[in-house]
Amino acid sequence: MITLTINKKIHKIDADPNTPLLWVLRDIVGLVGTKYGCGVAQCGACVVHLDGEAVRSCVTKVSRAQGKKVVTIEGLSETGTHPLQKAWLDLDVSQCGYCQAGQIMSAAVLLKENKNPTEQDIDDAMSGNICRCGTYLRIREAIQLAAKQQEG
Ligand code: FES
Ligand code: FES
Repeated sequence: MITLTINKKIHKIDADPNTPLLWVLRDIVGLVGTKYGCGVAQCGACVVHLDGEAVRSCVTKVSRAQGKKVVTIEGLSETGTHPLQKAWLDLDVSQCGYCQAGQIMSAAVLLKENKNPTEQDIDDAMSGNICRCGTYLRIREAIQLAAKQQEG
């Protein structure tokens, strides 16, 4: 049995310790906001936070999450009003939406570490999150808007 803290709730999980965290989140816990894209750490669709760090849950063994705090898009803010989520809505960032949870989770770590990122900082931090719909410009604008809202 593996004990995980996900979005502040404790879950007892009956899974092989080598199971990817993503499978546990989606198939066992039922948190389907985190997406499966490539499965090989290339696209960023599956990014969640592990003790505040952005990790790719498709290649993270569930055993690594034991004793750490896992946060998924469902737990980023209790009310869905994190500055990034608000900026995403204000600027209508999503297209098909598939990559966007991973994008927001990566952006949240960036904004925590860098309150006022430049365009280059944003491009560097977000370069591992692929969007097949090409929403990159709106993503960058939304991160800048969220940074401003965080300041104010
Ligand atoms: S699904 Fe994990 S990086 Fe693509
Ligand atoms: S919005 Fe469609 S993949 Fe990014």
